[in-house]
Amino acid sequence: MSGDSFHPPVRTLMGPGPSDVNPRVLAAMGRPIIGHLDPAFVGMMDQMKVLLQYAFQTENELTLPVSAPGSAGMETCFVNLVEPGDKVVVCINGVFGQRMKENVERCGATPVVVEDDWGRPVDAQKLDSTLAAHPDARLVAFVHAETSTGACSDVKTLTQVAHAHDCLVIVDSVTGLGGSELRVDDWGVDAIYSGTQKCLSCTPGLSPVSFGPRAVERIQSRKHKVQSWFLDLNLIMGYWGSGGGKRAYHHTAPINALYALHEALVLLHEEGLENAWARHRHHHEALKAGLEAMGLELLVEEPHRLPQLNAVKVPEGVDEAAVRTRLLQRYGLEIGAGLGPLAGRIWRIGLMGFACNAKNVRLCLHALESVLTEMGAPVERGAALPAAERIYGVTA
Ligand SMILES: Cc1ncc(COP(=O)(O)O)c(C=O)c1O
Repeated sequence: MSGDSFHPPVRTLMGPGPSDVNPRVLAAMGRPIIGHLDPAFVGMMDQMKVLLQYAFQTENELTLPVSAPGSAGMETCFVNLVEPGDKVVVCINGVFGQRMKENVERCGATPVVVEDDWGRPVDAQKLDSTLAAHPDARLVAFVHAETSTGACSDVKTLTQVAHAHDCLVIVDSVTGLGGSELRVDDWGVDAIYSGTQKCLSCTPGLSPVSFGPRAVERIQSRKHKVQSWFLDLNLIMGYWGSGGGKRAYHHTAPINALYALHEALVLLHEEGLENAWARHRHHHEALKAGLEAMGLELLVEEPHRLPQLNAVKVPEGVDEAAVRTRLLQRYGLEIGAGLGPLAGRIWRIGLMGFACNAKNVRLCLHALESVLTEMGAPVERGAALPAAERIYGVTA
């Protein structure tokens, strides 16, 4: 009945995100609401900035969560750093690079595309030769962790190449932050955005961003007003206190969502960033061992695989959507489908944040083997779990 409260089923979220949320984060969300200019709230915001700086490994003053999902973090970077008439090199190796190009066009700028196959990382040499051919380019944009394919690009090298051609970089690390090595200051990243619903074990709806000194300088010396009022950092800085001075109302902050992010960042700090990266790698190794023992193949080549997003090739003749439906109905387990040219050809198995644990790896391997066997797919039976257990050091 329409008047009843909504009680969602309990699921295990091992898709491309959202991923499972730590119960401490959900509990934090239920704490009493206070005003968004309440001194207690402002104190929490100050702590949040420090925790975000830790997560990004940066001392950038302009580090804050945008009050909207990852796509808004993406737009924040583009509308603030791109001006009409600019030339921006956009690296595309999946869905999210395509969206970056769309953003560049909507800013009235000209995108120059560096294209790589879906499932491959961005090629630094191609970027270098493209920049050499376009000396008037001002910015380079690329995705660290391409969620549509599971490929990880080399942020450090790509940033070095961009800087060698006098360009700033915008990096999408919506799926990277908290799951894969990322060092904003050491690698010289100028502008970066992320999301809360992937490796941060948090609810969706916020987008942490960080801007380095050169990016801030560019924003402050713009010739045109930022086309979006809501995402104009010059105005947002007034609320987040990044420009110094007294905090002023800009928009009503999503207060309880910010409690959630604060708690998620406290959890990350407790675990330690490097331990979180290692945990993602460890459970990925176990999942990979199990999948391969079953006879399944991963899409991305070994050195470029994201531990938190495993793209698995669908065996010939298997109805991939029917498999996902059975996993959901029988095991309450969600995995993701392929997108674009990979639709019908891969599953995307996430091991993100709180969902990245041995229990989920075991559940997923067991459930997938059982459903695939039942559907007559050519999988090796009984091999997956022992292979994963070997990684965990458990011997039968
Ligand atoms: C790499 C990447 N960029 C951007 C986004 C957009 O984030 P959101 O869906 O939170 O708006 C996503 C979401 O999956 C993503 O994976």
